[in-house]
Amino acid sequence: MGRYVEEDVRFAADAVRRGGLVAFPTETVYGLGGNALDSTVVDKIYEAKGRPSDNPLILHVARWEDVVPLVSVMPEGARRLAEAFWPGPLTIVLRKGDAVPKKVTGGRDTVAVRVPNHPVALDLIRLAGVPVAAPSANTSGRPSPTTAGHVKEDLDGRIDVIVDGGAVGIGIESTIIDMSEDEPTILRPGYITRSALEGVVGRTRRDETGEPKAPGMKYRHYAPRGELTIWEGDAAAVVREINRAVEGKPNGSVGVLASEETKGEYRCGVVCSLGARSDEEAMARSLYRVLREFDEKGIQYIYSESFDSEGLGGAVMNRLAKAADGRIIRMNGNKEKG
Ligand code: TXA
Ligand code: MG
Repeated sequence: MGRYVEEDVRFAADAVRRGGLVAFPTETVYGLGGNALDSTVVDKIYEAKGRPSDNPLILHVARWEDVVPLVSVMPEGARRLAEAFWPGPLTIVLRKGDAVPKKVTGGRDTVAVRVPNHPVALDLIRLAGVPVAAPSANTSGRPSPTTAGHVKEDLDGRIDVIVDGGAVGIGIESTIIDMSEDEPTILRPGYITRSALEGVVGRTRRDETGEPKAPGMKYRHYAPRGELTIWEGDAAAVVREINRAVEGKPNGSVGVLASEETKGEYRCGVVCSLGARSDEEAMARSLYRVLREFDEKGIQYIYSESFDSEGLGGAVMNRLAKAADGRIIRMNGNKEKG
């Protein structure tokens, strides 16, 4: 795990107990945590992130048993999911119990809970002795942080402690499944795939309505400063069209988000590869880092290939599509469906 400093975790846990805010690594992205049961702390989290307070937070606990006091109902399906995937990158939405302040759920009567699979996060939660409310530790609207350096870029001076546990392993946020109603509903795709979930709870639904149930999904999200456009369709045609589009823009103003397989085919622009298309885990791991690198280079336009698939690639695509805010160009011809 690298630079795990035990004293830092102790120090951070003390800060949480005293009502402070701490950033810490999880297996997905870095979180910005505080005592979930203290409304004043929850206010401070929203403020530090610049996040709208109707967008609820995830409560992180160290063992599934610690979820029981936070919820009013623990359905059998949720219990099975916890057993199958916790600790791990799955967030479960359940009916909230009275101990959970409405502030932390954005006024909702449901609460999102997760047991992260990272030794630093788990030690921190155990030592703090309270559920830790933690959104991703980025400024609202920016790409989620996958290193302590990213957290510093966004939140330095606004929070009390940053625990540096090195780069995270997964690189995109947890899968969210809503188990608060009869039909299990996937609110956000992630590392735990739909078919893995269905292996445990049977049929699931994807919430694709215009008014998403995970309120965070309605905001422009995960976004770099440059304007992102995605081209979808046959690979050769996408490369040709992106090349054409780059030529129409001033030198050095365009970044191209490519793959190992295609990066050699771009004639100009700042070309960054997310990794090999065959290695979706690598693509997930580099996504937010690459978007931040474009920002550092002052890139104004980002032109991206699409990386769709049923698995993790689909979760990467979900994040890119949010960042593109509707700028998706679907090309005619043999569009592949994953
Ligand atoms: O991997 C992750 O989940 C990371 C790490 C730090 O655990 N956390 C994270 O938190 O991504 P955040 O706040 O950036 O995203 C939480 C998402 C938001 O889209 C929010 O709307 C949704 O979870 N959410 C939280 N509580 C909910 C609830 N009661 N019902 C529906 N959606 C909820
Ligand atoms: Mg976030």
